[in-house]
Amino acid sequence: MARLHNFSAGPAVLPVSVVEELRDNLLDLNGSGIGLMEISHRSKTYQAVVDSAVARVKRTLGVPDDYTVLFLQGGASLQFYMTALNLLRPGEEADYLVTGTWAQKALKEAKRVGAAKGIWDDAPNNFKRVPQNGEYTVRENAVYLHYTSNNTIYGTEYHHLPDAQGHHLIADLSSDIAGVPVNIAAHDLIYAGAQKNLGPSGVTLVILSPWAMSRVPEGLPAMLDYKVHAKDGSMYNTPNCVGIYVLERVFAWMEANGGVAGATARNAKKAGTLYTELDRTPFWRPHAALDSRSVMNVTWRLPSEELEEKFVKEAKAATLDGLKGHRSVGGIRASMYNALEQGSVDALVSFMQEFERKNG
Ligand SMILES: Cc1ncc(COP(=O)(O)O)c(C=O)c1O
Repeated sequence: MARLHNFSAGPAVLPVSVVEELRDNLLDLNGSGIGLMEISHRSKTYQAVVDSAVARVKRTLGVPDDYTVLFLQGGASLQFYMTALNLLRPGEEADYLVTGTWAQKALKEAKRVGAAKGIWDDAPNNFKRVPQNGEYTVRENAVYLHYTSNNTIYGTEYHHLPDAQGHHLIADLSSDIAGVPVNIAAHDLIYAGAQKNLGPSGVTLVILSPWAMSRVPEGLPAMLDYKVHAKDGSMYNTPNCVGIYVLERVFAWMEANGGVAGATARNAKKAGTLYTELDRTPFWRPHAALDSRSVMNVTWRLPSEELEEKFVKEAKAATLDGLKGHRSVGGIRASMYNALEQGSVDALVSFMQEFERKNG
């Protein structure tokens, strides 16, 4: 079997050892005699998987003991709305740093609930960077500040903790969670779709502080109510059993490979390899500003759209898959999540050098 070098933005490459464990447990989950897709989520065997997932998330990410860890459905896109619905009262203010398409969507959903506002917005600059602290002012009455840690489409990322200026801090960590260090305790709520660094699509990790839990109003629709999900240990309804299983295995793999610190070091090396090539010649035109370059998603243009098309096509023929940029930016995007190996990046850079030699 030939697995391609997978640079997809998500769903994305997973550790081979985890995919192999999944394959085996599909037939017989942890020796229970019942397959992972067939076992009751109320069984002891499956409950042990969920308990282990929560414990590993807490250990690996350094989640404070009094925070709540949930595995929900509906993707990060549902969290755009749920965060506002649970944390804001109608008419209350919340401020957003608008650094890309996902941040725009988060803001749009929050406006359904309260007086949400984009207080820093890089749309006129086609989202080339994230703000530094001091470039925005959080409104005095804003309940929280929301930011998107890594902008998957544009390839920009914060390399500092955004200053919430004394307000509560909320983050969409979908595309760099567990790939870079994050101070969970500095946040009151974080959420992340699993399908980049954590597992398959269909499961969303949500982590809430005691303050966030205390803000949840009475009477929300059950499926949109964090308290309901917390009370039932993410099993108010039938969860994504396969998704949580894989997430648990991915965290086990992370723990065996140096945790977030190990991933951070490997990701820095991969990103360094690719950015060094991008800076070598003006043939490549990196999208992100220097201070905002993402280590997870790297985006660049070529001198023409024809060359970009040719690049993607020839790369695919050379076993390098998933490099076409998102339709809203164009060009090339290489996503290099935790499970992507250095060898894949080395292969990409060799291909790039050859491509430039022939077409530059
Ligand atoms: C940063 C970020 N936020 C949110 C989303 C939306 O996630 P989902 O498709 O799980 O709703 C994505 C998807 O790629 C993303 O990259």
